Amino acid sequence: MERTTNIKTKASAFALLAAAIALVALCVYGCAPQAPSESAAASDGKTPVLQGDFTFSTDADCSVCHETEGTSMSDAAYPAANHAALACIDCHGDVDGLSSVHEGVAYGDKVAKRLKSTEVDESTCLTQACHGSYESLAEKTASSTVLTDSNGTTENPHALPENEDHETIDCGSCHDMHASDGIADTAQKACQGCHHMGVYECNTCHE
Ligand code: HEC
Ligand code: HEC
Ligand code: HEC
Ligand code: HEC
Ligand code: HEC
Repeated sequence: MERTTNIKTKASAFALLAAAIALVALCVYGCAPQAPSESAAASDGKTPVLQGDFTFSTDADCSVCHETEGTSMSDAAYPAANHAALACIDCHGDVDGLSSVHEGVAYGDKVAKRLKSTEVDESTCLTQACHGSYESLAEKTASSTVLTDSNGTTENPHALPENEDHETIDCGSCHDMHASDGIADTAQKACQGCHHMGVYECNTCHE
C-alpha cells in the first residue's frame, strides 16, 4: 500500500514538473493557445476562425458551428426566436446522443441539416411551464384557418382527427424551429406528403 502511494505521489510530482516545463516552453514561443485554437484575428477584422478538434460539452458555444440555428434564436422570422430565453440544450436534451453525434467532429466540418440520430421529443414542449397540452393549444387556435383544404374543410392544427398516420406528426412537423418559411407554409407541407390531392379525405377516391 505504502509503495503504491509513493509511486503515485512521485508520478504526479513528475507530471507537475513536466507540465511546468511545458508551460515555460510554450510561453517562450508566445504562450500559444490550446486547441481549439483561434487563428490570429484576420487582418480584415472578421471574427477569428476556430480550428481543431471539438469535444462535445453542454456549455459549448453551439452557434460557432451551427450558424443557422444560432441566427434562428434571435431573428423573429424563425419559430426558435420565441424561445430566445432557452439554451440549445434545453430542447436538445439527449446529451448522450449528442455526445456520440459529435465524436470526431472538428471545427469547419459540414453541420447537420436535419436531426438524424437524436430527436426533440414532444414531451419537451408539453410541460406545464411551457405549452401545457394539445387541448390548451387547441383552444388558442380554434379559429385558425391555416389548415384549409381545397374543399374548404378547415382543421384545428392542434386537434387533428386521431389515426395511426397522424401519430407520426409532432410539433416539429409543423413548426420548423430553425427555418424562416413561415408557419402556414411549413404546416401545410406536413399534410401534403399523404394528402396528395389537396383534400383531407382519402376514401372519396380510395377504398
Ligand atoms: C465544432 C463544431 C460544432 C459545435 C461547436 C457543435 N456542433 Fe453540433 N454538430 C456539428 C457537426 C459537424 C454535426 C454533424 C455530425 C454528423 O452528422 O456526423 C453536428 C450535429 C448536431 C446535431 C444533429 C444531431 C442529429 O440527430 O443528427 C445537433 C442537434 C447538434 N449538433 C447540436 C449541437 C449543440 C446543442 C451544440 C452545443 C452544445 C453543438 N451542436 C455544438 C458540429 C458542431
Ligand atoms: C399540424 C400542425 C401543427 C402541429 C402538429 C403543432 N402546431 Fe402549433 N401551430 C400550428 C399552426 C398552423 C399555428 C398557427 C395558427 C394560426 O396562427 O392561425 C400554430 C400555433 C401555435 C402556437 C401559437 C398559439 C397562439 O397563441 O396563437 C403555439 C404556442 C404552438 N403552435 C405550439 C405548438 C406545440 C408546442 C406543438 C406540439 C405539442 C404544436 N404547436 C404542434 C400548427 C401545428
Ligand atoms: C425551442 C426548442 C429548440 C431550441 C431552443 C433549439 N432547437 Fe434545434 N431543433 C429543435 C427541433 C424541434 C428540431 C427538429 C427540426 C424542427 O422541427 O425544426 C431542431 C433541429 C435542429 C438541428 C437539425 C437541423 C435543423 O436545423 O433542422 C440542429 C443542428 C439544431 N436543432 C441545433 C440547435 C442549436 C445549435 C440550437 C441553439 C443555438 C438549437 N438547436 C436550439 C428545437 C430547438
Ligand atoms: C402520414 C400520412 C398523413 C399525414 C402526414 C397527414 N394525414 Fe391526415 N389522414 C391520413 C390518412 C391515411 C387518413 C384517412 C384515415 C382514415 O380514413 O381512417 C387521414 C385523414 C385525415 C382527416 C379526416 C378526413 C375524413 O375522412 O374526414 C383529416 C381532416 C386529416 N387527415 C387532416 C390532416 C391534416 C390537416 C394534416 C397535416 C397537418 C394531415 N392530415 C397529415 C394520413 C395522413
Ligand atoms: C381526389 C382523389 C384522391 C384523394 C382524395 C386521394 N387520392 Fe391517393 N391517389 C389518387 C389517384 C388518382 C392516384 C393515382 C392512381 C394510380 O396511379 O393508380 C392516387 C395514388 C395514391 C397512392 C399510390 C398508389 C399506388 O398504387 O401507387 C397512394 C399510397 C395514395 N394515393 C394514398 C392516398 C391517401 C393516404 C389519401 C388520403 C390521405 C389519398 N390517397 C387521397 C386519388 C386520390
